[in-house]
Parts: sequence; C-alpha cells; structure tokens
Amino acid sequence: MNPANRRTVIAGNWKMNFTPDEATAFINEIKPMVAGKDNCDIIFCAPYVTIDAAMKAAAGSNIKIGAENVHYEEKGAFTGEVSAKMLKAIGVEYVIIGHSERRQYFGETDTTVNLRTKAALANGMKVILCLGEVKEQRLAGITNEVVAMQTKLDLADVDAEALKNVIIAYEPVWAIGTGLTATPEQAEETCGEIRKVLADMYGADVAETVTIQYGGSMNDANAAELLAKPNVDGGLIGGASLVASKFTAIVDAAQ
Ligand code: PGA
Repeated sequence: MNPANRRTVIAGNWKMNFTPDEATAFINEIKPMVAGKDNCDIIFCAPYVTIDAAMKAAAGSNIKIGAENVHYEEKGAFTGEVSAKMLKAIGVEYVIIGHSERRQYFGETDTTVNLRTKAALANGMKVILCLGEVKEQRLAGITNEVVAMQTKLDLADVDAEALKNVIIAYEPVWAIGTGLTATPEQAEETCGEIRKVLADMYGADVAETVTIQYGGSMNDANAAELLAKPNVDGGLIGGASLVASKFTAIVDAAQ
C-alpha cells in the first residue's frame, strides 16, 4: 500500500450471496463498525437484485455499493444482461469486470472484458478489473506473461484519462475461494509486474497512480501482511466480505 501516490480500496465481492433483506441487515451491522475509517475506500459489490436495498442501507455512510458485472451494449436483445446505462440510472458507481468466475463459468474473454470495461467507463462508472493466472500457468512460470497479456488486452483503447477510473484487482485464480493465499512476496511481485506493464502503456507517472488490489482468500488473518507491500493497494474480498467482523478487520489493516 502506497497511500502517498494512490488510494487504498477495500472492496467486497458478495458473489451470489445475500437477498435484499440480508444485505440490508449486513450493511446495518457493519456501518457503525467501519464509520470514520477513511484511509481507504470501502465498497461492496452486490448481486443486481440486492443493489438497491444495499444502497439504501448504506446511504449517508462511507460505504459504496457496486455491481458484479455489466454488459457492453446499451440495450437490446441480450437476455439476462444489464447495461451500464441501467446501473447508472440507479446510482451505481463501481462495477467488477472480468472476475475469474465470469471467465471460467460464463465464457468471458479478454475481448468481452475489454468491451465491458470501455462501456462502463464511457458511462462514467469506476471499474474493478480482475485478472490473474491459473495454477498451471504459475507452475509453468508464465505468470508475468499471462498478467501482462491480460492487462494489455483488457485495457486496449482505454486512454490515460479513462484509466483514472480503473482499479486493477490481481487475483490468482488458484487462490480464489480455496483458502490458498498468495504469499505477500508473490502478491507484491505480480502487482509490481502489472504496474510495469501499465508504465509501458501509459508512462511511469500514470502507473504510479493506479490502485492495484490483491484478491484471493484475503482475510482478517493475512490482510495486514499483504497490504504492507508497496504495490498492493487494497483487496478484493469474497468469503470474508460476508462476515462483518472479518471485513472490518481487513479495513483496519488498511488504516
Ligand atoms: P475469496 O474471493 O476472497 O473468497 O477468495 C475473492 C474474489 O473472488 O474476488
């Protein structure tokens, strides 16, 4: 975490969890626990049907609510999809794009991730762009090549001005939901590698300002060590974002 140059962001990814009532209860529980903790931005990304209830519960607090995906077209025959215009209409500011579960189970590719990213940015939204290697790629020693390629393809045609609204979440796929966390050294090395790629694409000054989170089994026990690394500017948290005490401990580790 390097607060001198960039904002620390602790974001929860609720995935397919929480009904509107459950989300309301959760936000009401955690709101006082994170009140006044302003050294990081706090976001929860919620299922579409839960966003409105979560936003109402979070109103007036330092908690922001985002979405977990967005389609790249504005409207039309895309059954089951939701556009950036629709999210914007209900006041959603943040959206996760390119999560490995979308890539793995729902056919998301770097091409569609790039299209979704551009559509969200064009609508004034802030994007949490997820990328990371699978286990075989890490074992084969090609993690740097994989994240470099994803960074370049996912951000193709995104200019430096638009990049101000992009947060990158480095999420090694083998660490997501597995209880296996990257070591702080692994997280630092790969987040640093992504920053080098950004420096090649946009210049070092711009790269220094981009928030790069780590995600993958980050929790109350390991957050402090991970967040202590200079290139790890926050976390994208799945499992631990469903438990108020655990998420609050991660926010505290970022203070
Ligand atoms: P996890 O999920 O914290 O449960 O590993 C992280 C993510 O998928 O963003």
